[in-house]
Amino acid sequence: MRLSSISLVLVIISWSNGQFRNNQRFRQLPFRAAQNFRNRLKNRLDLYRERNTQMVCYDIVGCFTLPHSNSPLQRVPEDPKTLGTKFYLITRKTNTSIPEILFYNDDGKSLQESSFNSSNILKVLIHGYTSKWNEKNALLVTDAYLQLYDCNVILMDWKIGARGPQYVVAAANTEVVGRELGILLTKMVENGLKTKNIHLIGFSLGAHVAGSASEILKGKGHLIGRITGLDAAGPLFRNSYFKEKHKKLDRSDAILVDAMHTDSSPFVTDGFGLWEPIGHVDFFPNGGQEQPGCNDVKNSILVTQFENRGALNRDFACSHIRAFRLFIETVLNKLKYRDKKSDYCQFTAFSCPGGLSTFESGYCFPQIEKSNGRLVTDSIYAQDEIGQFGEDVRGQGVMYFSTRDSSSYCGRQLQLSVHVSQNYEPTKGLLKVNLHYSNKSIDFEMYTDIQDFVTTGAQMYGLGVADFHTFIPEVIKKIKVHIFFFNPELYENGNETTSSIIYINKVMVRDMHGNSWQHCKNNMPISDTIVKKMILSNEDCNY
Ligand SMILES: *[C@@H]1O[C@H](CO)[C@@H](O)[C@H](O)[C@H]1NC(C)=O
Ligand SMILES: *[C@@H]1O[C@H](CO)[C@@H](O)[C@H](O)[C@H]1NC(C)=O
Ligand SMILES: *[C@@H]1O[C@H](CO)[C@@H](O)[C@H](O)[C@H]1NC(C)=O
Ligand SMILES: *[C@@H]1O[C@H](CO)[C@@H](O)[C@H](O)[C@H]1NC(C)=O
Repeated sequence: MRLSSISLVLVIISWSNGQFRNNQRFRQLPFRAAQNFRNRLKNRLDLYRERNTQMVCYDIVGCFTLPHSNSPLQRVPEDPKTLGTKFYLITRKTNTSIPEILFYNDDGKSLQESSFNSSNILKVLIHGYTSKWNEKNALLVTDAYLQLYDCNVILMDWKIGARGPQYVVAAANTEVVGRELGILLTKMVENGLKTKNIHLIGFSLGAHVAGSASEILKGKGHLIGRITGLDAAGPLFRNSYFKEKHKKLDRSDAILVDAMHTDSSPFVTDGFGLWEPIGHVDFFPNGGQEQPGCNDVKNSILVTQFENRGALNRDFACSHIRAFRLFIETVLNKLKYRDKKSDYCQFTAFSCPGGLSTFESGYCFPQIEKSNGRLVTDSIYAQDEIGQFGEDVRGQGVMYFSTRDSSSYCGRQLQLSVHVSQNYEPTKGLLKVNLHYSNKSIDFEMYTDIQDFVTTGAQMYGLGVADFHTFIPEVIKKIKVHIFFFNPELYENGNETTSSIIYINKVMVRDMHGNSWQHCKNNMPISDTIVKKMILSNEDCNY
């Protein structure tokens, strides 16, 4: 009914405008009537919106609205009084076991009285869901930072906000505690801290806390120097509820946003991390979906499961937690080797023009000049940058690298390639190559596509990582290799259409700096009946 009266009025307006076009006196009347009508309509709409929008307002941190929707997942953040967020400051002047406490809501009083030095850089560590500020690894990084730089380190304590058991509530709380951090950072900037000297490091939900903090500074015309998002939380943040940019970390939140993805998935119900790139540079170690040495429950991580498990533990969220571990390693390594002339292991990342699938197939592997760290110009990656993950970050766009399966995660990245002989029976399956050096070993697994046969004359690739300190490319002359081929089809249905043997001509391992080890011999049969052993040497075999 109301709608039809609107259209009626509109008809009258357009008709009257035409009818009285040249008559000032009459033209004014319907125009004003329409304006009144529009105003009344607007007031009514505002009233309607207000009644149907959940909104809460808190002192200092402001109001939080909930988008109108039927989703049962929606929450507004809890009261800051309940959350009692604290900020622990540690500097070279404080006793590390007695950090100073800063409050965001005392108008800078605690900041003024603290040992905070606005001439120095600031590192803020933000924990994730069900975690706490003084977790062992966070304290390790803090200690390393203070040895590396004369800096201010803040360990943000939002453990009540992140306590669970409902993940949904913790996710909603990221916005309120983020604003609290933003208010404190604003005070610091007003006290002379340069925005470019701010580095926020957020793990999981903590990454979105950093994103929300940034909004407060943006509102005052400031942009934070750097935000590192370590496997920024995916659940609820990838779907519509948190699509609003101001509620999550994105590349507009700092001059440099570097993100790492260790437990992401294209499927909504799977993985704690985000699948989508969110930063200026996004690292996907080992492809970013699952980490080596982890055996996470996949395809079953639903939001409800967050709520029954208590703390994120290693068995449950190994790949997710790996993001923080990899980052820590870079800070600790930087400290450990700062006075040494020798080069140390750094996570070298690279882009793959063909995306994730070319990385996973092992095909994408750069050749880098050792002297200057640049790509060898005649490689197919010549147009792309080489990146580096960690405390010292570089790169842009989506980048990949491989890691070892346990600490030290950083190692020498290797590519294995196998040339398949021509003119043999078609086959498919798993080629497993075990590489031995010193008394360590690395496994490479190469699957042929489930749909396709191995094309004869094709090349198969695999990636692996050797220990940095024991695998010295310049010293190693020979590498022992065990090879094994398994065609599952033969066991599944006794189907004899594909061969149980794959014939190969060449096996080669190479690192990123042009060192290679190979063995060549025409038509070497590989099967599952005997493990084929061979020695790769650093003498070229010319094919
Ligand atoms: C730091 O505080 C602890 C605990 O109060 C104390 O035992 C230690 O002596 C202090 N260290 C320094 C260097 O003051
Ligand atoms: C703050 O740090 C700067 C440089 O790091 C130093 O020169 C200055 O003395 C420090 N200020 C205070 C009050 O300690
Ligand atoms: C490698 O061999 C050396 C000496 O044979 C031994 O001391 C060391 O523990 C071995 N390392 C591993 C990882 O097995
Ligand atoms: C044998 O394998 C071929 C190719 O994979 C397939 O088309 C065929 O249906 C299989 N036969 C049986 C009996 O499973």
